[in-house]
Amino acid sequence: MNISNRVNQLKKSAIHEMTRLSKQYDDVAFLSWAKPTTGTPKHINDAVISAIEKGLTGGYSQSEGLPELREEIVKKLKRDNNIEANINQIIVTIGAIEGLAASVMATIDPGDEVILPTPTYSTHITQVRLASGIPVLVPLIEENNFALDIEAIKKAITSKTKAIMFCTPSNPTGTVFSEEELRELAKIALENNLTIITDEAYEYFIFDDKKHFSIASIPEMRKNVITNYTFTKTYAMTGWRIGYLYADEEILAQVKKAHIPFAICAPVASQYAAIAALKGSQDCVKEFGQHYLKARNLMCERLDKLNSVFQYVKPDGSYLMFPKILTENGKDSFAFSKDLLEKVKVSTTPGIAFGPTGENHIRLSFCVPEEIINKAFDRMERYFGY
Ligand SMILES: Cc1ncc(COP(=O)(O)O)c(C=O)c1O
Repeated sequence: MNISNRVNQLKKSAIHEMTRLSKQYDDVAFLSWAKPTTGTPKHINDAVISAIEKGLTGGYSQSEGLPELREEIVKKLKRDNNIEANINQIIVTIGAIEGLAASVMATIDPGDEVILPTPTYSTHITQVRLASGIPVLVPLIEENNFALDIEAIKKAITSKTKAIMFCTPSNPTGTVFSEEELRELAKIALENNLTIITDEAYEYFIFDDKKHFSIASIPEMRKNVITNYTFTKTYAMTGWRIGYLYADEEILAQVKKAHIPFAICAPVASQYAAIAALKGSQDCVKEFGQHYLKARNLMCERLDKLNSVFQYVKPDGSYLMFPKILTENGKDSFAFSKDLLEKVKVSTTPGIAFGPTGENHIRLSFCVPEEIINKAFDRMERYFGY
């Protein structure tokens, strides 16, 4: 069978490989899943059951999504992201992932370069490759809390650069890029006519005094940005596969041409879930955030004890962190993660999964019950002789 070079070049993900290996053991302490372990709030489930019973969910919706949902999204963008949008600037997507894929497909041609500050969410790198683009990985500055390296980004721009793609808060580092940094990045995009593709999946999980800033809220960026959001993390709706993107009408019309052949429309039952999520009480989001903050603090305390094994930057957002491994065998993060799994049944994600600058690190997820964090760290302490 003929396989396209586009697909053939893609490597097996280290994340999926670790998941496969983890299934061989019982009683694994999972710190490797970046998905909420809480169930979807009841009022959202109930609203969908009612929509199903009323016979509203069996057909397609408009390919850009139900107008009622887009109206609610417009209100949310204004309230929480300082983005002035109208419903013609929104496409409801199959999670952030499909929106990001459509954004990339609409922006780059084969051979075009996309700058990705790394370590970053590996799917972004894969999406650029799948579109036959060239990912240009520019390291974040770890010593400065994984900040954007603005000078290095400027230097990486060539005549082939079309876009800059990033997530804030970041998967895997938990960094929240500051408004100041993002305004600098916007300036670079405008000077070089680049499109900024953002992934703001963790926008509501921000800790301490940090603030989430959407680069699309800068009015001058209107023609240069595609912003992707999701219900997955905010409302613990991983399996509903529902998200949305915002872009100016002209760009949106082009992105829609990429969205339709992959999706037709987002699942309609999930669109009703999304309406209920946006219209209902937001207390669940606050509760998830409070839990992640407590869990982050616990994980940091436990890491402090293991200070000859890990050195870490305290994450400002998301529910992920990315400690550096200080031991000799940490140079190969995949071997290190496999070893932890085999010897003490702790499942982590090797840093190499997030680009070459992720090597020598592991990603730990704290969107788990506190007892799982304690179990994992008790085991690691024993293993490392504490
Ligand atoms: C940064 C980031 N973007 C997107 C996703 C997936 O989002 P969705 O479920 O909305 O496709 C994830 C999931 O782990 C993520 O970490």
